[in-house]
Amino acid sequence: MLRLLPPKLGWQLGGAARTGGMAGQLRYPCKTSPGVAERLRYAGKVVCVTGGTRGIGEAIVRVFVHEGAKVVFCAPECERERGEALQRELEESGCPGEARFVVCDVAIEDDIKNLVSVTINLYGCLDCLVNNAGIFPGFQNTDDVTGEGFRTVLNINAIGYFLAAKYALPHLRKTKGNIVNISSLIAHIGYRNAVAYVTSKGGVTAMTKAMALDESKCGVRVNCISAGNIWTPMWQSLANGTADPEATIQQGINEQPLGRMGTPEEIAQAVLFLACEATFCTGADLWITGGAELGMAPKSHQDATGGVKG
Ligand SMILES: NC(=O)c1ccc[n+]([C@@H]2O[C@H](COP(=O)([O-])OP(=O)(O)OC[C@H]3O[C@@H](n4cnc5c(N)ncnc54)[C@H](O)[C@@H]3O)[C@@H](O)[C@H]2O)c1
Repeated sequence: MLRLLPPKLGWQLGGAARTGGMAGQLRYPCKTSPGVAERLRYAGKVVCVTGGTRGIGEAIVRVFVHEGAKVVFCAPECERERGEALQRELEESGCPGEARFVVCDVAIEDDIKNLVSVTINLYGCLDCLVNNAGIFPGFQNTDDVTGEGFRTVLNINAIGYFLAAKYALPHLRKTKGNIVNISSLIAHIGYRNAVAYVTSKGGVTAMTKAMALDESKCGVRVNCISAGNIWTPMWQSLANGTADPEATIQQGINEQPLGRMGTPEEIAQAVLFLACEATFCTGADLWITGGAELGMAPKSHQDATGGVKG
């Protein structure tokens, strides 16, 4: 069984091997030197990020703060220490933007309402919502998935996205802001032994298009990203839940023609692009996958265990 390293080191150091040495790019210098401020891509904009204490969400928080945004990010109570530490680190770094951590479990509607209220009370408006908080419940055969387990995944990964959008939209309409939903490649191509997770991501991609249509009359853009394999704590723990974690990770690396997993920062940069520059995109689904969907590969049942233990 792989051991999860301490939070700061685990996925970032190990990540260099998984991502072709690119994971270290996460901590780049703040844009504070003279003349740089006017080139900030999201200066003064207010952004709300769900699930911002680890992995892709943490990278999104960092990228937006480095580009001058005021970012309110959340995670459940069990992540309070990490959230507060990230807020402190960014405050002390002298970055052009700001970060505030709020405890919020996106499975709880009142928590989401509070997250949006805190954002508005702090900054008076909202320009962008990034729906990122998600769970992967581990590989399971359909026979082993309970109704309750399935509902839990939908609650966090799909209904949580919907509710955050619902409560953010009255404010986004005022700023003609935008929503970026983090979905997944497997919403399009499926994945073995992950029926609840795949269903939830399919819902997110479809919801993005439905909401983009509804909100176009208000000038709010709604886009999503179909992410491929991105080396994060989620990926590490899903590998740890399989019979041979190293083999599972290697298989994950081999799934990309580019020969590595993506980095959280590569997703964060795409989120920034959709929020900031993609002003004629709505309902778009940006695939950031290292080409994982390309070509043919062995797919018969004899070739794959689908990660299920034993
Ligand atoms: N890592 C990948 O390969 C990959 C691929 C495609 C899509 N995604 C999606 O990207 C998003 C981020 O994934 P990640 O790999 O960074 O995961 P992660 O587990 O590394 O981080 C998830 C973050 O979400 C937060 N979170 C979890 N449950 C929450 C809840 N109920 N309320 C609020 N916050 C909660 C966690 O605290 C953490 O900050 C997820 O939606 C995931 O499904 C990931």
